[in-house]
Amino acid sequence: MLMKTESEQQTGSQYPESNTFSKQDGVVRKSLVVGCGAYLPENIVTNDDLAQRIDTSDAWIRKRTGIRQRHIAADGELTSDLAAAACKPALESAGVDPEEVDLIVLATSTPDNTFPATATRVQAMLGITRAAAFDVQAVCSGFVYALSVADNMVRLGQANTALVVGAEVFSRILDWEDRGTCVLFGDGAGALVLKSGISEAGANGRGILSTHLFADGTHYDSLYVDGGPGTTGQAGFLRMAGQEVYRHAVHNMAEAVEIALEANELNLPDIDLLVPHQANIRIIESIGRRLSVDSDKVVATVGSQANTSAATIPLALTHAVENGRVKSGDLIAMTALGGGFTWGSSLIRW
Ligand code: ACO
Repeated sequence: MLMKTESEQQTGSQYPESNTFSKQDGVVRKSLVVGCGAYLPENIVTNDDLAQRIDTSDAWIRKRTGIRQRHIAADGELTSDLAAAACKPALESAGVDPEEVDLIVLATSTPDNTFPATATRVQAMLGITRAAAFDVQAVCSGFVYALSVADNMVRLGQANTALVVGAEVFSRILDWEDRGTCVLFGDGAGALVLKSGISEAGANGRGILSTHLFADGTHYDSLYVDGGPGTTGQAGFLRMAGQEVYRHAVHNMAEAVEIALEANELNLPDIDLLVPHQANIRIIESIGRRLSVDSDKVVATVGSQANTSAATIPLALTHAVENGRVKSGDLIAMTALGGGFTWGSSLIRW
């Protein structure tokens, strides 16, 4: 049982007026991950299915990417539908009533419309009427960015119960004639529920330990959509310099984890589970090797789900939780890189 801090005693509130408890008390206010959920559209498209439409093969795709199949949203199924379908089991697993949610941060590059934020439609679908709700756009790093925003708001006392969602319908921004890109992606959504809580200070206390975000816009042209709801006046499809992305992905994602560990005075062997962005099995394995993390501690869902951009991390984490790979006290390292380039990492003590 934690003693009430001076701040709590003065305000009579469970929450401090300042952003954290004094570390001298041995406790701080952190975001605790209390639930997670995932949703994948029913329709599965295999590599062989694609090979009937474009000049590719199951062997080529598997060898270069590890991808066997991807889920593709049905006609009329939108990012908000996928997001809400992931939020429902996340809230259920957390035992949180939707009315308790006071913040929704949704990471997507494929919003339903230019505005309002897709997060507001998800909010309405969940029957929530009082939360703050907005989208974050950092492509495949979007979930780490969204988590960072939500974590900071929770730790500062601006929110107590947050839904952090990654949801994408990338199938709508793919050039299905471009075999170099269309085979790589799929649709899906994942969500985490955060709750504010008083936790032991330092890296041993439960909760989100840190988030680190980076961007370098000089790589804008390496991975982008040549149109869309921007100001170019055309619909647009995803364009990518694959090898350029590959090189930066391995280096930047691994380095982001190293920076996070150092900031928390932790070491590589402390990692219990590595949940990297799921772009390509070769990238995932290279990051694992560079960080000397055993392959049984690396979550890989790219084979059955392909790259769902902002949704890959919450999808992979939910998959790991549902398969009993996460236990209380585990140190989970997450890292992603996406268009921009943007990249980042987060450490969670489960
Ligand atoms: N099927 C068959 N052949 C193909 C396909 C395909 N789907 N796609 C490309 N090829 C061909 C090319 O046309 C080329 O043929 P050519 O030699 O006759 O010109 C040949 O294969 C080699 O093409 P490369 O582009 O050089 O292939 P590479 O070995 O680089 O692999 C890949 C391509 C898989 C995209 C790789 O660069 C990669 O994994 N990059 C990382 C990109 C990524 O994962 N992006 C996801 C978004 S970003 C992110 O999430 C981090």
